[in-house]
Amino acid sequence: MRLFVALSFSQQARDALLRCQQQLRELGMTGNFTRPENLHLTLAFIGETDRVAQACRALERIEQPAFSMVLGEIGRFSDLWWAGIRENAALQELALRVQEQLRAGGFSIDRRPFRPHVTLVRQASASRPVRLALPAAVTAVESFSLMQSQRLQGRLVYSEVYRRRLA
Ligand code: 2AM
Repeated sequence: MRLFVALSFSQQARDALLRCQQQLRELGMTGNFTRPENLHLTLAFIGETDRVAQACRALERIEQPAFSMVLGEIGRFSDLWWAGIRENAALQELALRVQEQLRAGGFSIDRRPFRPHVTLVRQASASRPVRLALPAAVTAVESFSLMQSQRLQGRLVYSEVYRRRLA
């Protein structure tokens, strides 16, 4: 299975992300837009593994209070456009703990600094410069999820394998 650990968004934040994708389309951007049900924030990418129970056990060890996160600015990594999250110590802490526990469980996790982002469009091409602002939509983070990523009939489908509640 191809696994990753992710957060989902409040309805308010989802609506803001969908509006933002719509605005990008209206500005003439083309590309592979993330489908609404796939919008998420990745905390750690595990990759291909059959050690699902070990991954769950690693995540079970994480104890952290619930917190809130707020959408930030639009940015890009080359032709991938994303929505950011405002600076958030609790979010950084959670990502760090998730990554540490997975490493302790024997998983090899990327050591690059955590850059929280929600992918909006891949392989994007814009016909003119794009400047957009996102509303400060809030999400209460009360759990995080181990997700499976599959390609089914050419479509990327994410499904939840396990959910860990925050205190
Ligand atoms: P991305 O949106 O920036 O591509 C599922 O693939 C999730 O894991 C995506 O959010 C993806 O981030 C993230 N991810 C992180 N590292 C990855 C990698 N090496 N390969 C594929 N996805 C990765």
